[in-house]
Amino acid sequence: EENERTERIESALDELGDDVVILGHNYQRREIVEHADFIGDSYQLSKEAAESDAEYVVFGGVTFMAESADIITDDDQSVILPSMEASCPMAGMAEALQVDAAWAELTAATDEEIIPITYMNSYADLKAFCAEQGGLVCTSSNAHKAFEYAFEKGDKVLFLPDKHLGENTAHRLGMADETVEWDPWDAEGTDAEAAVENDVILWEGYCQVHERFRTDHVEQVRADHPEANVIVHPECRREVVEAADRAGSTADICQTVANAEPGDTWAIGTEIHLTHHLQRWHPEVNVLPLCGDACMDCNAMRQIDPNYLAWVLEELVAGRERNVIEVAPEEKDLARVALDRMLEI
Ligand code: 13P
Ligand code: SF4
Repeated sequence: EENERTERIESALDELGDDVVILGHNYQRREIVEHADFIGDSYQLSKEAAESDAEYVVFGGVTFMAESADIITDDDQSVILPSMEASCPMAGMAEALQVDAAWAELTAATDEEIIPITYMNSYADLKAFCAEQGGLVCTSSNAHKAFEYAFEKGDKVLFLPDKHLGENTAHRLGMADETVEWDPWDAEGTDAEAAVENDVILWEGYCQVHERFRTDHVEQVRADHPEANVIVHPECRREVVEAADRAGSTADICQTVANAEPGDTWAIGTEIHLTHHLQRWHPEVNVLPLCGDACMDCNAMRQIDPNYLAWVLEELVAGRERNVIEVAPEEKDLARVALDRMLEI
């Protein structure tokens, strides 16, 4: 069945030639990344799309990534997501309406200036909101620079939607004691007066994959493989990042393994597909999953089934654009401002 599907994908790609570029996020399954022109982290991929002349950008990733690609590509390029079900739950944890309500409460509780920062893993309307309020976007590799920008410009940060990336960044900048969580789902209500006594307000969002890593996993891997180095994604809990040897974005994890000496051992605390790719790409390095094989699988990323990839490509050959991700023009311009501010730092 796989051979037949591979043939379908390859023959559609032959027909489409340079009209199409395929992007594969590091967390996509093997049957997707092996067809990708570019493999990388979310922002690297959007930049590759913008630099290509392809009319169709087929994104093996999740909705917020396809939106970011639509924001930075030309208007005559269409961004296609093979499955509309591929939506990152963390991005869905900060809905614009909820953030508007929180913003009204927080800004009424202080005269000091709050700068909102949103992680790339968020929808375009939230990126647009951040631009409007003087804030910006960040990725997991430049969150500390976004904090520095915000504290030069204002007095406090509202960090959305990933509380762990926000907390890990505050810690890195020596601000561990100045953070507070803002939980919009708290049945007892939120206390804006108390929240604004802190410099860093962390939205109560998290990644359901990375939150499952525990310090026990780090201890176990160190007991079983005393020679192992441990690297985790900064979406992991604070104590897991502290127990690891290094934390980094998916691009940084790839680079670390690529730079390892033959025979080195690296245990990887991130989505399992990337660990498997690294095992295949670097057989000279001993690459281990930090926590077995079974549980660290992102459901959202898994929605991109190779059968859907074959389908969207065959539809393009037939002249039909399916599953186009299009950000509304007014949001697009503002979200672009928030992304450009990130590039400036
Ligand atoms: P990167 O930006 O590090 O690729 O991460 C994206 C993501 O979804 C992490 O869970
Ligand atoms: Fe979202 Fe986590 Fe999946 Fe990344 S791994 S897409 S943050 S749910």
